[in-house]
Amino acid sequence: MIRMEYSITSQKKLRNGVRIPIIGLGTWLAKGKECTKAVLWALEEGYRHIDTASYYGNEQDIRKALERTEVPREDIFITSKLWNSEHGYESAFEAIDKSLQKLNLDYLDLYLIHWPVSGQRIETWKAMEKILEDGKARAIGVSNYMIKHLEEIFRAKKSGEISVIPVINQVEANPFMYREDLHDLCKKNEIQLEGYSPLARTQKFDNALLKKIAEELNKSPAQIMLRWGIQKDIVVIPKSTNHARIRENMDVFDFEISDENMEILDSLNEMHRVTTWDPKHDKMFN
Ligand code: A2P
Repeated sequence: MIRMEYSITSQKKLRNGVRIPIIGLGTWLAKGKECTKAVLWALEEGYRHIDTASYYGNEQDIRKALERTEVPREDIFITSKLWNSEHGYESAFEAIDKSLQKLNLDYLDLYLIHWPVSGQRIETWKAMEKILEDGKARAIGVSNYMIKHLEEIFRAKKSGEISVIPVINQVEANPFMYREDLHDLCKKNEIQLEGYSPLARTQKFDNALLKKIAEELNKSPAQIMLRWGIQKDIVVIPKSTNHARIRENMDVFDFEISDENMEILDSLNEMHRVTTWDPKHDKMFN
């Protein structure tokens, strides 16, 4: 399938009509001036999508970049997330207000439940619906939701307890960590998959097959991993605070990975996780 039509300005239309740029800047572990600079560089290079979370502690740093850039607010897609300690109906309203205040924004483009912690998932989702209704977020979704968590949401929708389902599920996704069954379920329900740690935090750049494909296409392993995500219909949000690497990560639109090489990359899946989440107990490890 020819996908060369994609470019840095390409967007995916979500079920509710909102459009999300297919590539965004991840900001986990980016703090202070370094974070502000990274966001400014990204905007300068053409990124129009910035991903943050209250937990990252950098919303104020991103605000500084948004205040300095000449790119209009409405041209930038901004995501933030509700942290584990912010679950609950009333707490969710406080959480988004805090994020909006720190970012100095009237609305987010996307607000996500960061992790599916046990206890108040549906209550929190009801608050997300109100947040959407009130216009504080243009779209609402979830992050790190596995099949069982999505099924819980579908059941709540079916019973009339809630009125909408997420438009996005942001999960760890790269050739070494890909949940095809989850992606299939998302596709079936028009939930866009968004992949964080699309570079597996650099941990797999030395993989021989990945390197071989990168050499063949005259691209870096990072670019191959990102392009794999895009060709899988995954919105990718590589994190970098380095100007050259921010540029490198968006330079993934002048080539295509063949079906044969996509198959080789698919074969690299080993459920290699970079996060510290215990899926059995719905909580963080440690
Ligand atoms: P840095 O911020 O110094 O560029 P992921 O998005 O999978 O979580 O990976 C993030 C990590 O990958 C960060 O350590 C980041 O470091 C590094 N990184 C980002 N882009 C590249 C790249 N193009 N080449 C090498 N390392 C990269």
